[in-house]
Amino acid sequence: MAISTGSKIIKTAVFISGTGSNLKSLIKFSKLKESPISIDLIISNNPKSKGLKYANIFKIKKKVFTFKNMTDEKKTLFELKKNKIDLICLAGFMKILSKTFIKSFKGNILNIHPSFLPKFKGLNTHERAIKKKEKYSGCTVHFVNSKLDSGKIILQKKVKINKNDDPKSLAKKILIQEHKLYPKAILKVFSH
Ligand code: GRF
Repeated sequence: MAISTGSKIIKTAVFISGTGSNLKSLIKFSKLKESPISIDLIISNNPKSKGLKYANIFKIKKKVFTFKNMTDEKKTLFELKKNKIDLICLAGFMKILSKTFIKSFKGNILNIHPSFLPKFKGLNTHERAIKKKEKYSGCTVHFVNSKLDSGKIILQKKVKINKNDDPKSLAKKILIQEHKLYPKAILKVFSH
């Protein structure tokens, strides 16, 4: 699965909607010597997204589009082109991208999902995992295709669900693993 990139740094855009803790971990990773990516653009569909502060802190270009209509996808594609972006990392991005958008980016879109896929695709993963009395949940980094949370899996990490876990405590435990998993998955896909 490893894609050789030679010594070329992969220009990456991270798409967010909320807190942006995965964005922060990806930015930190991108600054390491072994990282094959640089983060050159942050896109959010939510002007109130807390994660947008990392654009200022780390001096990264940011753009906000609501994605309420197709024009916003077109504007996004234009920005991606303008900034010569090769890879998109979705990180807590709560909008579903159209088939056309995904196709036009030729499979170079990754996503992180807070469950051990194929279990619990979609929203409210932690609530559902606890309700179903699962022993484990976890997180998954996968390629994005036109079906929700269904693209080829790159890496996964299991996280134990304890008897006293609630959705909040489980989300917290899984998020810690997400921050490690996303960089690892990128290293797995793109080797120098
Ligand atoms: C993460 O759990 C991610 O997997 C999910 O939404 C959360 C986003 O967290 N899709 P953050 O914005 O990266 O802090």
